[in-house]
Amino acid sequence: MKALVTGAAGFIGSHLCEYLIEKGCEVVGIDSFTDYYPRSIKESNIAGLKDCGGFEFVEASLIEASLAKLLEGVEAVFHQSAQAGVRASWGESFKIYTDNNILATQMLLEACKDRPIKKFVYASSSSVYGDTTDLPMRETSLPAPVSPYGVSKLAAEHLCRLYFKNFSVPTVSLRYFTVYGARQRPDMAFHRFFRWALEGKPIEVYGDGKQSRDFTHVSDIVEANWLAFEKASSGEVFNIGGGSRITLNEVIEIIKEMTGVNFEVRYKDVQKGDVRHTSADMTKAKEVLGYDPKISVEEGLRREYEWIKDFMRR
Ligand SMILES: NC(=O)c1ccc[n+]([C@@H]2O[C@H](COP(=O)([O-])OP(=O)(O)OC[C@H]3O[C@@H](n4cnc5c(N)ncnc54)[C@H](O)[C@@H]3O)[C@@H](O)[C@H]2O)c1
Repeated sequence: MKALVTGAAGFIGSHLCEYLIEKGCEVVGIDSFTDYYPRSIKESNIAGLKDCGGFEFVEASLIEASLAKLLEGVEAVFHQSAQAGVRASWGESFKIYTDNNILATQMLLEACKDRPIKKFVYASSSSVYGDTTDLPMRETSLPAPVSPYGVSKLAAEHLCRLYFKNFSVPTVSLRYFTVYGARQRPDMAFHRFFRWALEGKPIEVYGDGKQSRDFTHVSDIVEANWLAFEKASSGEVFNIGGGSRITLNEVIEIIKEMTGVNFEVRYKDVQKGDVRHTSADMTKAKEVLGYDPKISVEEGLRREYEWIKDFMRR
């Protein structure tokens, strides 16, 4: 089976490429190395993949690439590329989000029309729900994003559904809940916390640290993509969470114990676009996909810590 992975050099995309190669797939990965975080990090994400037989890498933006050529022989599309990050999505930089999250998705969907694609899996986000007190978040709830990033992810999700309804592109959207693990993006909380702890710096937290998240280990996310390819009906949306919800303060305590560093914690203003709590209702993903997250937060944090120690030595 030949698969196309967009955002292949990113955090989640690179893990997904490795998983698909392990499954025996032929993988074409595309990434434009956007400058949101250093190119060197993305290059190291795919360093191991480049030596794998069955992996081809294309450096290009979806907006400029020859998509017809890229899709030749492809049966599964795993669309992971996007401009991530809630806090950076305000102001003038919103254009980066509309280009990479909305326009790029529309162009890819357009190119997928009338092709023998079995499944198009789109990486959506829990940010489409917004700041709701109605927990756990259900796929049937009315989405109401509170950040421009969330708006762009929801717009692309709607495009996926439109292209299924009108042109039978077999799209499925997975709403990921905060993903972590080895190679986590450097702007994300756990990555920053571990880094600051190891550098002997105080840890900065936006808000009072009592906000909670349904943290999801990247290996569970990758597995969910495969299950969606195999089992989901087209046009559907699924929550993909980690199976439990904990506060940032609880995470900080685990990190203190794991690193053995008794760092100072500095609480800062809540950032615009951040939500208070997330929690995934996963009834649908369990019933339809057989999705069952396996990695606990303690185990996942340990894996991320091992990676970041190695990463900081490089
Ligand atoms: N990490 C999370 O917690 C999380 C949560 C919810 C949803 N998501 C979604 O998962 C996906 C992957 O996120 P990530 O954390 O791995 O981010 P990432 O930034 O590490 O990876 C995204 C990759 O896409 C590439 N890219 C961006 N625009 C492109 C374009 N036009 N053409 C080609 N490549 C392009 C970037 O260079 C980057 O390498 C994104 O769609 C994101 O919105 C992530």
